[in-house]
Amino acid sequence: MDEFLTRAQVQEAADYIRAHTRHRPTVGLVLGSGLGDLAEAVEDADRLPTADIPQWPRSTVEGHAGRLVIGRLEGQTVLVQQGRAHYYEGHSLQRVTLPIRVMQLLGLHSVILTNAAGGINPEFVPGDVMLIVDQINLIGMAGLSPLRGPNDASLGPRFPDMSVPFDRELRALAAAAAAEAGLALRQGVYAGLAGPSFESPADLRFLRTAGADAVGMSTVSEVIVARHGGLRVLGLSGISNKANLDGSTVTTHQEVLEAGRVIVPKLTGVVRGVLRRLPNEARA
Ligand code: HPA
Repeated sequence: MDEFLTRAQVQEAADYIRAHTRHRPTVGLVLGSGLGDLAEAVEDADRLPTADIPQWPRSTVEGHAGRLVIGRLEGQTVLVQQGRAHYYEGHSLQRVTLPIRVMQLLGLHSVILTNAAGGINPEFVPGDVMLIVDQINLIGMAGLSPLRGPNDASLGPRFPDMSVPFDRELRALAAAAAAEAGLALRQGVYAGLAGPSFESPADLRFLRTAGADAVGMSTVSEVIVARHGGLRVLGLSGISNKANLDGSTVTTHQEVLEAGRVIVPKLTGVVRGVLRRLPNEARA
């Protein structure tokens, strides 16, 4: 779907948020399916329904609250996006990734993207947390890029580099945070598809051969917009189900939401540890 947003439209959303919070966030956190409860940890929070924010894409999916929670967490001022919109809901990729552009215009330096994903690596079990070390942008390879259309050079370059999509320093902080919390942090490559149908066994064998460890329906386009806009990115996948490479099991959205209950405390530990280790805001 062609729908190109201008900087002025993104600015409308950013201005609304600035006018409705006392805080000036520097780190963004996007919470995936079933992971919304991570926002409960935020202190001194301002809560904004995203339905009130101009230009913001609506999420229609169960498990996505549609709220921004802005406040303090581990010495940082964070903007937490509880629930995201997906391409399969009918939005353009520019609309889906508008929240990342808004974070850019609000002056955030980093964003932590979380998602629920199917585990393709046979060693992964539901409940695992995977640090995303790289991504396969399958939806992009199929021609769907959030950067398609006119490039506003004030937001980023026409041909952005993607040699290091996930920030090395943030990855190291996540590994250190997980070690301190006694959590086994998996590492792997995330493949992003359009959804909403889950993958066939042959899709999954293809993804495994291509080097994917986990698969989901979000994140990759957000990473591209964040890198285009100069934000540093940390990606964490909660493995909600074993991808069904031989057709012997069925994957359901309910299963994805239920796995979130096991994953949220682990993710909370990693995210808290990363925030605690970041330079404090004065130096950021
Ligand atoms: N496939 C795609 N997306 C997902 C899955 C899956 O198995 N689990 C959670 N999100």
